[in-house]
Amino acid sequence: MFSISDAVQNYSKNTRYKRIYQKYQNYTMIPFENFAANLELCEKFKEMQGCVIECGVWRGGMSAAMTEVLGNERTYYLFDSFEGLPDAKEIDGKEALQWQKDKNAPNYFNNCTAEIEFAQEAMSLSKADKVEIIKGWFNETLPSATINEPIAVLRLDGDWYDSTMDCMENLYPKVIEGGLVLMDDYYFWDGFSKAIHDYLSKNKLPVRISQWNNSNLYYLLKKS
Ligand SMILES: C[S@@+](CC[C@H](N)C(=O)[O-])C[C@H]1O[C@@H](n2cnc3c(N)ncnc32)[C@H](O)[C@@H]1O
Repeated sequence: MFSISDAVQNYSKNTRYKRIYQKYQNYTMIPFENFAANLELCEKFKEMQGCVIECGVWRGGMSAAMTEVLGNERTYYLFDSFEGLPDAKEIDGKEALQWQKDKNAPNYFNNCTAEIEFAQEAMSLSKADKVEIIKGWFNETLPSATINEPIAVLRLDGDWYDSTMDCMENLYPKVIEGGLVLMDDYYFWDGFSKAIHDYLSKNKLPVRISQWNNSNLYYLLKKS
């Protein structure tokens, strides 16, 4: 099991994370503080062998940035519809339903729609040599995806309950014991956190959910 030790508190002083952020800023909607928190936590897992998967990549900026700290020895898988988010449902909560109705809000990002070319471009700027970008809805692409190696880092950023449940059901069993599951929306969207709780509870998993460095980033370490 990897141990996670003292976190660096002030990201604004971290010029390396700033540089990485600036490089991919046009390819991510994640604000700098949260972006840096992801990089810092990922970096703790750079010695762990295995692939990296992000589900919900939008323009691919966070996936590309992860390659800067996790290196080019491994394969990076990016899953997205590249058609935006599915319709939110009641289980996703009032805020999610309202967010999807408010098409003029500054954080609407055209329902998180991005052409696949952005993600291809972001990954071509990155350190990765081995990249698979898989377009389609998670419930259609994940069950048949060929992932021939264990997952060291799984980043979940699909916002809604069904999307998150599809990712957990198909990918959590493939995460290495002690591997990292980053939960972008755990703090933010009700449906996301409900899916995580339901999955863990349904499978009677003794997993703890943790907050990273007082940020909005939550994560868990795979435990069977
Ligand atoms: C908030 S955005 C991801 C942000 C991104 N990680 C970044 O660095 O900016 C959510 C993404 O999840 C994708 N998504 C959500 N549910 C999905 C599903 N069921 N199947 C495929 N893609 C999905 C959307 O297309 C969208 O690109």
